Amino acid sequence: MQYQGRRDQAGTLRQLSRECKAENGPQEKEMRAARVMSVTSGKGGVGKTVCVANLAVVMARQGYRVLVIDADLGLANIDIYFGLSPQFNLNHFFAGQKSLDEILVPAAEGITVLPAGSGAQQYTNLESAHKLNLMEGLEALHGQFDVVLIDTEAGISENVTYFNVAAQEILVVTTPEPTAISDVYALMKLLSTRYYEKQFKLIVNCVVSENEALDVYHKLTLVSTRFIDISIDFLGAIPLDKRFTDSVRRQQALAELYPASKPSTAFAELVGNLELRSESHEPKGTQQFFWERLLSFN
Ligand SMILES: Nc1ncnc2c1ncn2[C@@H]1O[C@H](COP(=O)(O)OP(=O)(O)OP(=O)(O)O)[C@@H](O)[C@H]1O
Ligand SMILES: [Mg+2]
Repeated sequence: MQYQGRRDQAGTLRQLSRECKAENGPQEKEMRAARVMSVTSGKGGVGKTVCVANLAVVMARQGYRVLVIDADLGLANIDIYFGLSPQFNLNHFFAGQKSLDEILVPAAEGITVLPAGSGAQQYTNLESAHKLNLMEGLEALHGQFDVVLIDTEAGISENVTYFNVAAQEILVVTTPEPTAISDVYALMKLLSTRYYEKQFKLIVNCVVSENEALDVYHKLTLVSTRFIDISIDFLGAIPLDKRFTDSVRRQQALAELYPASKPSTAFAELVGNLELRSESHEPKGTQQFFWERLLSFN
């Protein structure tokens, strides 16, 4: 029963991607295949939400239809980063008061945001029924988005692992700080050993040089290949820049405020490395592999 539940819940986001691919004609296939990515970290405050907001802006400017899900269900704040004041949020959905459609809010550049609530503890550890409802609700949105970005909370809570397992691709964020590196390693280790997640994409935030980012990448790959069997792709580095603080205060993404700045260029490079137009994208292996993997849960 437990296997069935997990299989259904985590499967639905990937379903979203597959169904979009199948429904569209060949010309629009590339643009319409939903890519579902989580943005996650071990340590808090390393820049996950900043990355989600800026990636969303860059992608939207390139013509992709982007849905941002705030999966920080205890201390949500993606709405603040986009200057939104949503009337309803995921708490209303979980309480059965609103449908997902009624909660979605339009944000800058044509981005759509699924906001979460802040300050309520009851959804900080989602029950199976809530997870299932959420996945079913998201499934109903298939065809409406090209990219789904999930902004997770920090740490290794059940919600974090759940959203990461449900996503098609896992983007891990760290800064060069040893504590952030050690925590992101711990998260990948948990996702690998407990949930059989083997592929990660690394964003190194707050760097003063490209070399600093590569150094972090090398450290992580060295220890990962030695102790856990995972593969880490280097997705890109985001420079330390004080305009981020300014952009958070102004409640607009830096890529929107300063599109020609270095950080904005870095986000654009990062989006390029995601190869959103690539047709042959099966990041977590075949569907069969996915079922087998979930069935082997204990
Ligand atoms: N590259 C950067 N340069 C300078 N400041 C940054 C950079 N990236 C993020 N920040 C700042 O770091 C702070 C935390 O960023 P953010 O909220 O995105 O982190 P987070 O990982 O989402 O945090 P949480 O774990 O609490 O959700 C923000 O005030 C932001 O302005
Ligand atoms: Mg955040």
